[in-house]
Amino acid sequence: MVLLDGKKTAQDLKEEIKATVGTLQVKNQRPPHLAAILVGNDGASLTYVGSKVRSCEYVGFDSTLIQLEENTSETELLKKIEELNQDANLDGYIVQLPLPKHINEEKILLAIDPEKDVDGFHPSNFGRMALEMDAFIPATPFGILELLERYQIETSGKHCVVVGRSHIVGRPISILLSQKGPVGNATVTVAHSRTENLADLTRNADIIVMALGIPEFLTADMVKEGAVIIDVGITRVTDTNHPKGYVIRGDVAFEEVASKSSYITPVPGGVGPMTIAMLLKNTLLAYQRKH
Ligand code: GUN
Repeated sequence: MVLLDGKKTAQDLKEEIKATVGTLQVKNQRPPHLAAILVGNDGASLTYVGSKVRSCEYVGFDSTLIQLEENTSETELLKKIEELNQDANLDGYIVQLPLPKHINEEKILLAIDPEKDVDGFHPSNFGRMALEMDAFIPATPFGILELLERYQIETSGKHCVVVGRSHIVGRPISILLSQKGPVGNATVTVAHSRTENLADLTRNADIIVMALGIPEFLTADMVKEGAVIIDVGITRVTDTNHPKGYVIRGDVAFEEVASKSSYITPVPGGVGPMTIAMLLKNTLLAYQRKH
């Protein structure tokens, strides 16, 4: 079994991005600039956005964190988005999800300028991605492709089962893995909460992408010997023995599945760090498109 070390791979990527930013400095060009809007005080979202901002600093990007009150109205948020759309010194931005319930997520995503949509959530980017046109690919699926590529894992002709159909992970990764390309050409099955006999599907999979959000859902009996396991789950599970009061668990029962797999992502330290690195990569791409 080989551990797909997302932490190290993300670090390698950050070093590459940092080196590119260094060449801009030499040419007296401004660095790429990423902004993040966070509405409310959700603990996990605060942690993710904090990591994104720190990573920007590490690679030499400018970053702006816009923290808005939980009770911010949809109109106020739309006004802020319009400001960011108009800001010529900003290359990309994200609106951290989930948003408070009184805000219509669809309306917000539609308001983001697709040229600055480094999350790749705008329908224009999603559609372009699905049509194999130049597009911002959402950071988590993009990170999975990068991990598979850097570890030279063959996907062509393989049976890949994606468990989960979210707009952010399950749906886009299922499209990307079936497309033509260096990491692609897989035969993809999308499974979800209504799938019957899921274990019959996963037991026949060469590659399993778990993006369900149910801790330790995938067990050893559901996996064939030698499968590649990509775990996108990051759930906080209460643990009073831990100083933080919780531990992070993936969608895979790691110990028992790891011993059967050929490659597996740990949680934490697998897909999570890759997501942040690919957001930086998208921001650099947004910058390079303009310059
Ligand atoms: N919430 C969970 N994952 C993400 C992400 O990749 N981007 C944004 N904006 N919100 C998220």
